[in-house]
Amino acid sequence: MNKKNNYTLGVLTSGGDAPGMNACVRAVTRTAFQEGINIIGVMNGYEGLINGEFKNWRGARDVGGLLRMGGTVLQAQRSKDFRTKNGQREAIRSMNEVGMDGLITIGGDGTLNGAHALAEQGIKVVGIPASIDNDIWGTDMAIGVDTALNTIMESVDKLRDTASSHARAFLVETMGRNSGYLAVQAGIACGAEIVLCPEFPTTVENVAEIVEDAYKRGKNHAIIIVAEGATIRTTELAHQLDALNVGFKTRMTILGHIQRGGSPTAFDRHLAAQLGIRAVQALLAGETDVMIGLRGRDITLAPLADVISHKRPVNMDTYNMVRMLAQ
Ligand code: F6P
Repeated sequence: MNKKNNYTLGVLTSGGDAPGMNACVRAVTRTAFQEGINIIGVMNGYEGLINGEFKNWRGARDVGGLLRMGGTVLQAQRSKDFRTKNGQREAIRSMNEVGMDGLITIGGDGTLNGAHALAEQGIKVVGIPASIDNDIWGTDMAIGVDTALNTIMESVDKLRDTASSHARAFLVETMGRNSGYLAVQAGIACGAEIVLCPEFPTTVENVAEIVEDAYKRGKNHAIIIVAEGATIRTTELAHQLDALNVGFKTRMTILGHIQRGGSPTAFDRHLAAQLGIRAVQALLAGETDVMIGLRGRDITLAPLADVISHKRPVNMDTYNMVRMLAQ
């Protein structure tokens, strides 16, 4: 085992999986080898950290083939135990047992909260944002967002074919938890009539008016994107639109976890590579309790305390673009 400088780095993925997590694990691991340090993969996120589920990588070949793989080979889960002080204490004990000097955590807001909790107890930790929701403050994009958006776009393009053939209005529900980011971006990329999202609530009557107007203007389909966190539930909206008789008959599709799968796009592979490399370099340079992110074209560092106390907003101008272009 390569053990220059006697430094041992751990890497884990946690929370919901996101396409590009594997590419990021590969980048972290190979940068570690490049730097001549020891690298341990932690299985099952923080749960595996508590239970000491470690996997030693001995060389670059051990992470070969990961670049194009969706999901996460390290597995990921949301650990209830780790949210407690006891769980965190057990995790620190496991880290000490294997002599882990620093940890890189790849995941969403829960993962970054966990990273900050460890840092507050003296653990050297750097977070990398990976979540299809793109709700993480301190980065323009999280790993997985671009792939999820492309999956949504391909799905809606297919739905549009059948919607047009039958003159139907299609409600398409996207993921994103409490964030409307995916829905709004998909609305632009897919030419939706309207997007329903938690940030900019609307009424059933308003949606009905917009869809009926599209019908009157001679359109042969209407796409309505509904964020899972929107104030009006997708099923309820489908029933109400049919009851209000807006011209089109209504169908709905909940895209669900298909949005989390698949091979990462070129953008996500690049982002994963850049964030992974920079995270290792930052830790070795003595940085801790920070998240590596992308702002504009720059790879930047933000204190985890700031990251977890803010939420990335959805831009109103971007939201308005959907209606502006739905003519
Ligand atoms: O955070 C990613 C995400 O896919 C959200 O968009 C969604 O609300 C949630 O995870 C679903 O979680 P689970 O995979 O546990 O059903």
